[in-house]
Amino acid sequence: MTDRSKVVLAYSGGLDTSVSIPWLREKKGADVVALTVNVGQPGDLDAVRSRAVAAGATRAFVVDARHEFAEEFIAPALRANALYEAIYPLSTALARPLIARHLVEVARREGASYVAHGCTGKGNDQVRFDLATTSLAPDLEVIAPAREWKMTREEEVAFAADHGVPVPVGPTSPYSTDENLWGRSVECGILEDPSVEPPEEVYGWTRSPRDAPEEPVSVHLRFERGLPVSIDSHRVPFSELIVQLNHSAGAAGVGRIDHLESRVVGIKSREVYECPAATVLISAHQALEALVLPRDLLDFKRTVEQRYAQLVYDGFWFTPLRDALDAFVLSTQERVTGEVAMKLYKGSAKVVGRRSPYSMYQHSLATYSSGDRFRPEMAEGFIYAWGLPARTWAAIGAKPTAVSARAAKYRP
Ligand code: ARG
Repeated sequence: MTDRSKVVLAYSGGLDTSVSIPWLREKKGADVVALTVNVGQPGDLDAVRSRAVAAGATRAFVVDARHEFAEEFIAPALRANALYEAIYPLSTALARPLIARHLVEVARREGASYVAHGCTGKGNDQVRFDLATTSLAPDLEVIAPAREWKMTREEEVAFAADHGVPVPVGPTSPYSTDENLWGRSVECGILEDPSVEPPEEVYGWTRSPRDAPEEPVSVHLRFERGLPVSIDSHRVPFSELIVQLNHSAGAAGVGRIDHLESRVVGIKSREVYECPAATVLISAHQALEALVLPRDLLDFKRTVEQRYAQLVYDGFWFTPLRDALDAFVLSTQERVTGEVAMKLYKGSAKVVGRRSPYSMYQHSLATYSSGDRFRPEMAEGFIYAWGLPARTWAAIGAKPTAVSARAAKYRP
């Protein structure tokens, strides 16, 4: 960069992104526009904006993207029951492309040729920011100061002091956290030893199951076309429903996840997540799908879900593959309407009832009592044809000796 160019920086208010502001000014000769995207993280974001200006940003914006995050990012992930490595609801991963989209929009509005983020060179998030940005705006260049500078934490704090950047005072937490509507993630500190049980102090959203209420909490969810529209008969917008469930399920100790995770960059890492709403909603959604979708569709959808989760994790949100998988998933949700009753109790979230106008469960077919309409006399013929390949295979390759050797065991 030769002239004083403009950079739009994804600004969280933490040490890395705060130090990034004077660093970008000094090392890249750039004016910094700070952008803080509200995806449901706690804290006073007006104070975060002021901190950006205090650190030397020429302008600082806060945008409320909670509704957009729920409707456009979490909703498709829920319809796809997206769980990376079958356990992680992708809370952090889903927010990155959304933040990148806002970075690109502000860059366009401000005439900036660069966007920047505070990710290091070891994580997944750099991959997601960079890929999402390049997919939306191939002409923009991405700068990741924390990937370039080779400062230790102490050097960073010194750099901040030298440049008049206010550093959060008080005892610093050993943990690195990230929070949004869909969950909270925690890494570093003692968690870096995967053989050690996470200490209680890492949790911020969930009560310890030991301290959770002695009585189970009932939750009734109504879904329409694959998405929850009401909780305990109250219709609420999706983003609010998530907030409510994070509280109620978190209080019951639900949503703690201990994940030995395979990162995109090849590193195995140990991450703890708290995803109460995601845990409850994905279970409920799966339970409703089990009721209304035929077996082959459920089975095929599971393979799509796995691919979907991996794609989101890997940073390929803005790609034709995601569009295509989304279209498939959406087409499966037409009849995913109905109600699911759940019980939350000391860390577990169990489905205890489900009903739907599209239920494929037919009592008259399932029952062993009177009113049975199933025709068992048809079963024999069905099994004859169903087992024909197995019988033919066995007949051709029959090895009488092996069978008689085993049969010998039963001789007196
Ligand atoms: N490992 C998680 C992911 O790749 C979350 C990383 C979040 N960052 C953090 N500082 N805890 O989605």
